[in-house]
Amino acid sequence: MNEKLNEIREKALEQIKTAGSAEKLNEIRVSLLGKKGALTDILKSMKDVAPEDRPKVGQMVNDARAEIEARLEEAKKKMDEAIRAEKLKNEVIDVTLPADRAELGHRHPNTIALEEIERVFIGMGYEVVEGPEVEKDYYNFEALNIPADHPAKDEQDTFYVNGDILLRTQTSGAQVHEMEKGKLPIRMISPGRVFRADEVDATHSPSFHQVEGLVIDKNVTFADLKGTLAEFAKEMFGEDTKVKFRPHHFPFTEPSAEMDVSCFKCGGKGCRFCKGEGWIEILGCGMVHPHVLEMCKIDPEEYTGFAFGVGLERIALLKYEIDDMRLLYENDVRFLKQF
Ligand code: DAH
Repeated sequence: MNEKLNEIREKALEQIKTAGSAEKLNEIRVSLLGKKGALTDILKSMKDVAPEDRPKVGQMVNDARAEIEARLEEAKKKMDEAIRAEKLKNEVIDVTLPADRAELGHRHPNTIALEEIERVFIGMGYEVVEGPEVEKDYYNFEALNIPADHPAKDEQDTFYVNGDILLRTQTSGAQVHEMEKGKLPIRMISPGRVFRADEVDATHSPSFHQVEGLVIDKNVTFADLKGTLAEFAKEMFGEDTKVKFRPHHFPFTEPSAEMDVSCFKCGGKGCRFCKGEGWIEILGCGMVHPHVLEMCKIDPEEYTGFAFGVGLERIALLKYEIDDMRLLYENDVRFLKQF
């Protein structure tokens, strides 16, 4: 018995020493200590041992078992450590390697132009406010004096969510929201996205941006409008920029005008850029219609005001001499980087 036990022990210790993997160790454990393992067999044959020898033999078997288990544990630990060390070796970071160059984005021409516009008007004491892109018919049309049978309300021009809710076709609704707040005087600009059912081409897109402007106070006149917008044009396009107002019609202003600036490419002589005109149209404007004031509960006898609307893409295209609006929506960094 003693000899047999020793033999099993020696063999086991040898096997453990040369086992190359955790699986192998487990196999060894099962072959010795499992249900049909060699040591288990010996324990089972204890009944054949003389009763007086049993405690001694039992002790021996237990000692052998404890030793084998300890060695198995030790071998397993060593193996785990070796695996961990190998893993760490592979994970070493060479801090002296040059870093990957991260490709930086770039501000969009629209953003640059808008920040410029905001800078000019904030400098004149205006607030910047935002209106909703999904809008009620009332704010986009009715409160702006645009009657139910106006062609702009046609489904061919306007994206309707349902009969009463639509995607705003202009930022002018922000004027109404601002006046409804009931706080006077008002000096605000309101930039934002607008939507029209247009086909995409070099000058059209179903979604573009406008910047609305509104001033309401006592004694505001057309002279204030002219002075303000002439100053804006100079700040935007250069000190020598001249402005010209042409009569126009917008339902929510009376009188209404479109403002042209002298071509900043040729100075007004006429070139390819201004199509030989010497002038470039940049915005619509006018004195707020008394009816619009009334609908917003402002007394037109006491208060007057002016409004204007600028196409942001138009300004960006002009200022940065971009000849196709579609380039603004592709967000190709190679294009954006140039501005
Ligand atoms: N909302 C007009 C448009 O989309 C632009 C405009 C014209 C805005 C005159 C104004 C204005 O505030 O006074 O064509």
